Amino acid sequence: MADHPTHVRIRADYGTTGGYMPHEVEALAEATKAAPAGPMLELGVFRGDSARALAKWVTAARPLFLYDNMMRPTADKSCWPTGPHIVHCTGLPALSRLGVLHEDADHVYATLLGHLRRYGSLVVPEGLICLHDWESSHFPDVKKAWEAWEGREKFDWVCRVSALAVFRRIR
Ligand SMILES: C[S@@+](CC[C@H](N)C(=O)[O-])C[C@H]1O[C@@H](n2cnc3c(N)ncnc32)[C@H](O)[C@@H]1O
Repeated sequence: MADHPTHVRIRADYGTTGGYMPHEVEALAEATKAAPAGPMLELGVFRGDSARALAKWVTAARPLFLYDNMMRPTADKSCWPTGPHIVHCTGLPALSRLGVLHEDADHVYATLLGHLRRYGSLVVPEGLICLHDWESSHFPDVKKAWEAWEGREKFDWVCRVSALAVFRRIR
């Protein structure tokens, strides 16, 4: 586990911070149900709880790309959803547009801002950005990175359910 510091922290805190709670999984599924067509991208998959919520809405027009940088190619990903139009990525994928960006990776300012800069502007009008661990005292960088991201003004607040925050692109 020496090279998996995030996993250690998440396991220690599960139920209070970091890990998805069942009602947040339901909220994520509900929020993304009517997202526009376009690929869905999840960064930070771990046990696949949030990925399974997104996987409910997968179609050919709404494929799901999953990437976790600490899940080595040999790691057990049997808890990740599989099926047609679900892609287990081995690196950050090259995409040209997104219907949904779901971010639940390392919660570090530079990482999140980098992900927002790379993928946030690819979110199509009416598309969603979902951020986990919003306004968490354990992960203050999530909100800080969102507020620093130049593209955020094109998004409106949709809802917050516990640690899940959802934004919709309005222009
Ligand atoms: C909080 S867990 C994700 C929980 C997951 N969403 C779920 O519902 O089970 C964070 C995950 O992000 C991964 N991670 C950390 N840094 C990352 C990065 N830069 N890119 C992608 N994934 C990253 C970690 O390996 C860890 O598995």
